[in-house]
Amino acid sequence: MAGDTSKKNELPGWYAGGLDHVWLPYAQMKTASPPLPVVRTHGSRIVLADGRELIDGVASWWTACHGYNQPHIKQAVERQLNELPHVMFGGLAHEQALTLARRLTALLPDDLSRVFFSDSGSVAVEVAMKMAVQYWINLGQRGRSQFVAFKGGYHGDTTGAMAVSDAESGMHALFGGLLPKNYIVDLPDSAERAAALDKLLGECAGAVAGIIVEPLVQGAGGMKFHDANVLKKLRALADKHDVLLIFDEIFTGFGRTGTLFACEAAGVKPDIITLSKALTGGTMPLAATVATRKVFDAFWSDDPKKALMHGPSYMANALACAAANASLDLFEREPRLQQVAFVSAALLRGLEPCRNLPGVKDVRVKGAIGVVEMERIGNLDAVRARFVEEGVFVRPFGNVIYLTPAFTIATDELETLTGAVTKVVRSLKS
Ligand SMILES: Cc1ncc(COP(=O)(O)O)c(C=O)c1O
Repeated sequence: MAGDTSKKNELPGWYAGGLDHVWLPYAQMKTASPPLPVVRTHGSRIVLADGRELIDGVASWWTACHGYNQPHIKQAVERQLNELPHVMFGGLAHEQALTLARRLTALLPDDLSRVFFSDSGSVAVEVAMKMAVQYWINLGQRGRSQFVAFKGGYHGDTTGAMAVSDAESGMHALFGGLLPKNYIVDLPDSAERAAALDKLLGECAGAVAGIIVEPLVQGAGGMKFHDANVLKKLRALADKHDVLLIFDEIFTGFGRTGTLFACEAAGVKPDIITLSKALTGGTMPLAATVATRKVFDAFWSDDPKKALMHGPSYMANALACAAANASLDLFEREPRLQQVAFVSAALLRGLEPCRNLPGVKDVRVKGAIGVVEMERIGNLDAVRARFVEEGVFVRPFGNVIYLTPAFTIATDELETLTGAVTKVVRSLKS
């Protein structure tokens, strides 16, 4: 890895001893800057081995919505660890999972009433895709195994999820040979594009199981926003052509866009929804694929072949479900959505000065997502390092610098984050 290896001796033993044995995500291992050694977290702070504290602008890939080391979640997980850390979910059930399923379905639009638990967002998407394909098989319609998905979309790194992601944003162009072919098209955000999608579905609906979309915000594909009308159009087209509609709310779920779920703001109900990331408040890996009664009923049968054949070993892990239940308590007890509105206003205020800086293409904010889109970013690693020099953790990708802080972040921390973004963006062209 690039970087000053002579300093390795000053680093903790676990770091120097282990770094040569891990394979890091999305990284050219030879040239990437080494990762920052983290020893502790608290609130919106990441504490490094050398004692520096960085203000976190990313909330650990958008998971840590209540900040780090939230005491209520911590207590719930500790209690659960003493009682029942994990049992397999085949043939056994436990209170945390069943309580969580009941609570999630009560929060989602009615009819989204069956929860299938898994352990990562990508797997939740795989499960949604399997549900959709088998839904049609169970109804006697074989051959409906393709999906319509969207340019700029990202749904994960497993094979099925890659196959419904835009090759660019999914970073999976290399794997074309492995991936099943789907229709990756423009979002219907204009009359012409809606007509094109209508036409496509008219021609191929017999081969299509469903449409999958990230509602309101396409995250990893570039933090691009669209409005509720796009989702209304998708619902109308899915109904017209009789295909299922899947909302991937792995990023947007749990308040990130301003309402608890993006589908709420749009007033559109999908047939299947996927959730993960902030589900456990950023503490434990857990995901959920939630189906409507209509979808579930197609599996309800005396025929064993109509069962959904999926079941991860750590499905409905009790520690993770306890964390998720505690996270939902916090959404109930504390004014999280008001905090999102506050963060949103502060992001808008703080990032607006970037708009007229050289090299800036766009500044946009939705909920607790603030984006400065650049014409281009030459050296991502160097820009990331600049942020660390400013005392913040911000991790731009592509041509996008973004902030997705915890909803509980303090006002002065948020100002430091937006100030650092403005300063770094200004320095990029000077
Ligand atoms: C919308 C969306 N779907 C799916 C995923 C994949 O989730 P995971 O990384 O937990 O597999 C992500 C991750 O960023 C995502 O943003």
